[in-house]
Amino acid sequence: MTVDYLRVSVTDRCNLRCVYCYPSGGCKLIERTEILRFEEIYHIVRLFAICGIRKVRLTGGEPLVRSNIVNLVEKLAGLKEIEELTLTTNGVLLEQKAEELKNAGLHRINISVDSTERQSYKDITGFDNLKNAMKGIHKALDVALAPVKINCVIIKGLNSSQIIPLAQMSIDLPVAVRFIEYCPTSRYTKPAGDFVSSSQIRRIIEREHGQLSTISATNRNGPALHFKINNAAGTIGFISGRSTVFCHNCNRIRLTSDGMIKPCLYSSKHYNIKRLIRTGAADEEVIQFLTGVIEEKNQYTKLTSSVNEFDMQRIGG
Ligand code: GTP
Ligand code: 5AD
Ligand code: SF4
Repeated sequence: MTVDYLRVSVTDRCNLRCVYCYPSGGCKLIERTEILRFEEIYHIVRLFAICGIRKVRLTGGEPLVRSNIVNLVEKLAGLKEIEELTLTTNGVLLEQKAEELKNAGLHRINISVDSTERQSYKDITGFDNLKNAMKGIHKALDVALAPVKINCVIIKGLNSSQIIPLAQMSIDLPVAVRFIEYCPTSRYTKPAGDFVSSSQIRRIIEREHGQLSTISATNRNGPALHFKINNAAGTIGFISGRSTVFCHNCNRIRLTSDGMIKPCLYSSKHYNIKRLIRTGAADEEVIQFLTGVIEEKNQYTKLTSSVNEFDMQRIGG
């Protein structure tokens, strides 16, 4: 698989505390001096682009809590090799920022909203912010940060009753509602038994709406498989990182906010690119380093979902 997709976590800070992501005991935040500056991120992405990266997704924590994020988007959008620049957000700050992001060159956006009901949204995220997140979705549609994708993680007993209302969003709005299997990543988040599989979710939706029609049922364009409810404005997707293995189709590599390259979400292997950049390495040396990491990633074809312990909020999914 050609590695052409880079996920860049711009911060480990977040304005929510989602139970499936944020460790309940809190977590040690990365020292500010250790977080990559925008010039450093730009520098690394520019060199990654020379190594074949064509798509960049900004993640967090919550990327919109980092001040002047629009400036980073604008800089990255200027890289001619980057064909697609996207961002994953919880949407809380999106209403204010969507238009600026669009004007700065962001192509599209994914928004995490796990409930359409105020109390269960609060139970999951720790904050009474559903209204803001919904305004963020509508604003993203208004300014055509399209296709808009909605990410939903279903946790048994917390928001399982939200499967039908969330699916309804795909009927009413031209959005892709994606159900993501919960991936337990740290002993401080929810237990593994709280996971609801894609096939269970699909059965619940089909019981209500009849058989879903298939739009794409391969992992060649990322982890999601896409379906549609009859006559819906949007689509339904499933990201089944627990019940299936799609490593052989994985085209992505990750840069953490403290400057580590992670070739695989599930592996603890990481490479310190920050050290190289901060010691003034020449572009040729960095390119050689990145090429080596990409080549090594290509050998990761048989990883299973035996997750090493990590904090999702540091990696951004
Ligand atoms: P697009 O398909 O380009 O819109 O993006 P995406 O779905 O890859 O990105 P997003 O940030 O919205 O991630 C959605 C979910 O997919 C998150 O829960 C991620 O953890 C998960 N995900 C993304 N990439 C991978 C991957 O390589 N492996 C696994 N198992 N999960 C992934
Ligand atoms: N399992 C599955 N998905 C997760 N996300 C965060 N933590 C987890 C987890 N433990 C998702 C968020 C966000 C995306 C970047 O990752 O819902 O949409
Ligand atoms: Fe924040 Fe996203 Fe993690 Fe929720 S899932 S705590 S919004 S980083």
